[in-house]
Amino acid sequence: MGSLRFLLLLCISLGHVESTVYRDSNRNQDHSPGANYLLDPIHSVIISKRGANVTLPCILRSRPRSYKVKWSKMSPADPLEKLIIISNGQQHKNYAELRGRARLRRGHRLDASLVITNVTLEDEGRYRCELVNGLEDQQLTLELQLEGVVFPYQSSGGRYKFNYVEARRACDEQDGRLATSSQLYQAWTDGLDWCNAGWLLDGTVQYPIIVPREPCGGILPPGIRSYGPKDKMKDRFDAFCFTSAIKGRVLFIHGPLTYKEAAEACLAHKAEMAKVGHLYAAWRFSGLDHCDGGWLLDGSVRFPITEPRSRCGGLPDPGVRSFGFPNRDQRLYGVYCHTPM
Ligand SMILES: *[C@@H]1O[C@H](CO)[C@@H](O)[C@H](O)[C@H]1NC(C)=O
Ligand SMILES: *[C@@H]1O[C@H](CO)[C@@H](O)[C@H](O)[C@H]1NC(C)=O
Repeated sequence: MGSLRFLLLLCISLGHVESTVYRDSNRNQDHSPGANYLLDPIHSVIISKRGANVTLPCILRSRPRSYKVKWSKMSPADPLEKLIIISNGQQHKNYAELRGRARLRRGHRLDASLVITNVTLEDEGRYRCELVNGLEDQQLTLELQLEGVVFPYQSSGGRYKFNYVEARRACDEQDGRLATSSQLYQAWTDGLDWCNAGWLLDGTVQYPIIVPREPCGGILPPGIRSYGPKDKMKDRFDAFCFTSAIKGRVLFIHGPLTYKEAAEACLAHKAEMAKVGHLYAAWRFSGLDHCDGGWLLDGSVRFPITEPRSRCGGLPDPGVRSFGFPNRDQRLYGVYCHTPM
């Protein structure tokens, strides 16, 4: 009986703590002593994927007599806040950021939500909805995250060949984008263990370790190892790229083919050789699983495994395996193609 009472007391006091925290976060969003015009968001993180349409909710509790709604973005790559749209209820002005893809939803008279169509990898970041009303300006902040996958990328020339600019370009060329720290952290919680350091979007160099070992930062606890910010021109590492859903699909054509024959085989199927990002996206989002190495556009040979088995590389965890960059005249592999349909 005594322990039950203790439990009840504990629950009540936990409930109390939670509601206190909730009220405090409310207060942070409301900088004014007057009426609170903006409804607190139900979720402050909105998850979407590339190519989708997403709504960032911003709902008024009531309408002040005159006001403007201002949406802006703070992206991880760029500390400067960018204006997206300003509206006074009747008219609105769109700014350069997201031009042509952003509009106010206006589902009802209290709706100031922002709709972004055809979401891109660059759209990730923090978005601010501001009610500008003279003295009582109020705002709320939402974070847009994309579902996706992080993949390490190394130059065909070997390990640690990219400066920051080259790493950024390499990810673009593989249908991805340099990953953010939080994307790498998420990938680590999903099981990414990689012993080579790579550039991230913010100019830092890091790598994720699940099984601590001597050559990979020593016997520290599992986690993200970081070298901190590095010289973007002089220092050289690999890259961590991020990609999200793709349009179309990835198909495998059996070999054996040389690199040149592989390119022709894709063309004959009205497709193009897949990029590394395409293969990772098909592996993650469509469960692509193939035990055969296939050429990719960059000249590497890889294969995607979702259900690990001993005769397919033998590793215990799902993943995209790599044979590196073999001689392009070798006739040993098939090819992975990407069709946009
Ligand atoms: C996104 O919205 C546009 C127009 O608003 C529509 O044409 C398109 O089909 C939508 N895309 C998706 C993936 O729902
Ligand atoms: C969506 O964006 C991608 C990449 O920016 C572009 O290639 C594609 O044509 C766009 N799709 C639509 C429906 O606007």
